[in-house]
Amino acid sequence: MIPFEDLLWVVFYAALAALVVAGAALAVLHGLRGRSVGTQLIVVGAATVLATISGILVISYLMLLNDHDRSVVLAVVTSAGLVAMAVSVLLGRRLAAANRTLVEAVRADEFRRPAAHLPAELAELSRELEAAYDRLAASHEREQALETSRRELVAWVSHDLRTPLAGLRAMAEALEDEVVADEETIHRYHGRIRVEVERLTEMVDDLFELSRIHAGALRLSRQRVGLADLVEEAVAGAEALARAKGVRLRGDVREGLPVQVDAGELGRALRNLVVNAIRHTPGDGSVEIIGEVRGGEARVTVADACGGIPEGDLPRVFDVAFRGEAARTPGGGAGLGLAIARGIVEAHAGRIGVANDGPGCRFEVRLPLMA
Ligand SMILES: Nc1ncnc2c1ncn2[C@@H]1O[C@H](COP(=O)(O)OP(=O)(O)OP(=O)(O)O)[C@@H](O)[C@H]1O
Ligand SMILES: [Mg+2]
Repeated sequence: MIPFEDLLWVVFYAALAALVVAGAALAVLHGLRGRSVGTQLIVVGAATVLATISGILVISYLMLLNDHDRSVVLAVVTSAGLVAMAVSVLLGRRLAAANRTLVEAVRADEFRRPAAHLPAELAELSRELEAAYDRLAASHEREQALETSRRELVAWVSHDLRTPLAGLRAMAEALEDEVVADEETIHRYHGRIRVEVERLTEMVDDLFELSRIHAGALRLSRQRVGLADLVEEAVAGAEALARAKGVRLRGDVREGLPVQVDAGELGRALRNLVVNAIRHTPGDGSVEIIGEVRGGEARVTVADACGGIPEGDLPRVFDVAFRGEAARTPGGGAGLGLAIARGIVEAHAGRIGVANDGPGCRFEVRLPLMA
């Protein structure tokens, strides 16, 4: 039985020898930090064997171990060490193979998580890669959709601009060449030219607003505005149009809490909704603008008697350049009004939606209340 004091010395010297070897191994690992995990594992295995052997040698040097025992222990440690190194090499290879599988999956056109069993860390990396790939694919899809809608918009708008321009040119030429001579036709042409120019100006203005919204360049100067004022403005701005068409227009504010908005921009969004409502409501119908506070939000609802929007069109009405089939007639809108309304409402951290309801449809704008 070894005396306790000697045992303490054995522990002390073995630890000292192991520390020296560990220090050297750490230095080597530092030098190899860019190398493969397999190589680094071999260094760890070799350091473990070396630390054990150096401990044994130090202890036998201090006469705490006789020659016979030292040979036996060295033989055991060396063979165990060799087996451990072989296991390290194997593990290193498996890690390298798992890593290769992952790299190949990443290089493929479409990343799919490898079916092979991966070590926990690589499996986590692979899950994260898959999530990152999905996000990338979604944003690519959005980008493509935006690009398509931009191209369609340019095509439609250039068509929409060309048609009235051709009309204007024909009328101007007729006036210039004095093809039309009677007072009444000349007067009518002048009137038509003014109306067309106004429409073109509006369209160009809408396009400019939309491009500012898309570029994220809409600068809002927010003020405290009463909900009632917003509704009143919207009614006042569309009264003439409603009267001309014989549509009854009514505003109603159930609770007039203030909101923090850019009155000019939001007024434009509401005007687009109200003008649409009046345009699509038959002569004897009515359009109602309601302001209320519900569910902790300010809501402005524009309800009309348009006879309902086809279910399939409902999710698309806010798309740039979308116009229902019936509206695709000469003199119709450019399909920009609702896209602009949505852009403005979303810039206010609000939401806009539409549903068919009663004799027509109901557009709803929700805005956060003032804190
Ligand atoms: N109140 C409504 N009732 C029925 N259909 C509507 C209503 N508002 C919009 N729509 C449909 O949604 C389409 C898109 O509306 P939007 O306001 O964006 O464009 P527009 O009115 O055709 O043109 P613009 O507003 O640029 O002059 C319309 O063409 C119409 O088919
Ligand atoms: Mg419109």
